[in-house]
Amino acid sequence: MKLQAGYLFPEISRRIRSFGAENPDAKIISLGIGDVTQPLAPAIVEAMKKAVVDMGSEAAFRGYGPEQGYDFLINAIIENDFNSRNIDLDRSEVFISDGAKCDTGNIQEIFGLNNVIAVTDPVYPVYVDTNVMAGRTGQANKNGQYSKIIYMPCTAENNFIPELPSPAVGRIDIIYLCFPNNPTGAVATKEILSRWVNFARDKRAIILFDAAYEAFITDPKIPHSIYEVEGAKEVAIEFRSFSKTAGFTGIRCAFTIVPKQLQAYTEDGRAVKVNSLWHRRQCTKFNGASYISQAGAAAVYTTEGKKQCRQIIDIYMANAAVIRELLTRLGYDVYGGVNAPYIWMKTPDGLSSWDFFDHLLQKANVVGTPGSGFGPSGEGYLRLSAFAKPDDVKEAMQRIAHSI
Ligand code: MLT
Repeated sequence: MKLQAGYLFPEISRRIRSFGAENPDAKIISLGIGDVTQPLAPAIVEAMKKAVVDMGSEAAFRGYGPEQGYDFLINAIIENDFNSRNIDLDRSEVFISDGAKCDTGNIQEIFGLNNVIAVTDPVYPVYVDTNVMAGRTGQANKNGQYSKIIYMPCTAENNFIPELPSPAVGRIDIIYLCFPNNPTGAVATKEILSRWVNFARDKRAIILFDAAYEAFITDPKIPHSIYEVEGAKEVAIEFRSFSKTAGFTGIRCAFTIVPKQLQAYTEDGRAVKVNSLWHRRQCTKFNGASYISQAGAAAVYTTEGKKQCRQIIDIYMANAAVIRELLTRLGYDVYGGVNAPYIWMKTPDGLSSWDFFDHLLQKANVVGTPGSGFGPSGEGYLRLSAFAKPDDVKEAMQRIAHSI
């Protein structure tokens, strides 16, 4: 009941539907929700077909799988995503799931309600709303910000990288970070991540690191995993997803890394292993991602799968370049879109995010995501997603150019 508004993306869909009903001939192009549009890579399709055939055969049929995922996928993840970056992980530290949205939303359940969370502003709304639902916050103020949450503004002035909280803000137990960032497209260097890891170690805080967009990093100096930073395994949980990396928004498969070294502390200072808590929670509430999804996900790591997924990511990043280029040419302040599939643009003439959203919908029939939907520091910005089809992106940009 404390939640301020409907969840952001359904609210946007509602506005699109209402505009579409009044303007049935409008061909609306969505650069709004970050939903993939390219079909699955052929290697994934083949692997899933084979998995379906398995499920229809007496010999290879499978019922419940292991709650934490099949070894064939866990091994492929460890080898390709982590060992290749000199990060060692044990199989028991990888938890396969049906989505990073669920994992980033559910993880707070294993922590006490008195924990104080810190989030960036703007922020992926799931982190905040799930804590409100759990009862960890007070009421919202007129800006939509809840008491008992620490908000860390990310603005053009700080390059959309949150400052370390000053001691004046008091205790912080859980810090949500997302890099490459949704919604701003900002990325964190190793030095920035080290600063956060040291801060968390110092304060006995835990970092919840959402790396759902790591596959879109193009700069070789930017870390893909927080565990590339010394000491991070003691303080960080990392979330990954096949949604954007391999087009799994409709298939559902993701994973979360909870290192064995990671400890949380009870109010009386007793150390507790977070890995065991998450394991216990998942075994109770989750029966694993489907065998077919996991078989598809494992194909992402085959030679063919890697090549094909890379080609698809390149298509999206070429879209991002088209969006950036045109908006820059039109004189907008444009951020992101280089190591991330999101472009974060300043609205023209001081328009509010929702006014600019409405303007683009009505004049160009193009949908973005209002920055203010991600928090007060997002006011005056619009997020454009690069996940649309290339022809649609080009047309959307032409229409935007003519509508302003
Ligand atoms: C977005 O548009 O921010 C994403 O689609 C959200 C998500 O992945 O849940």
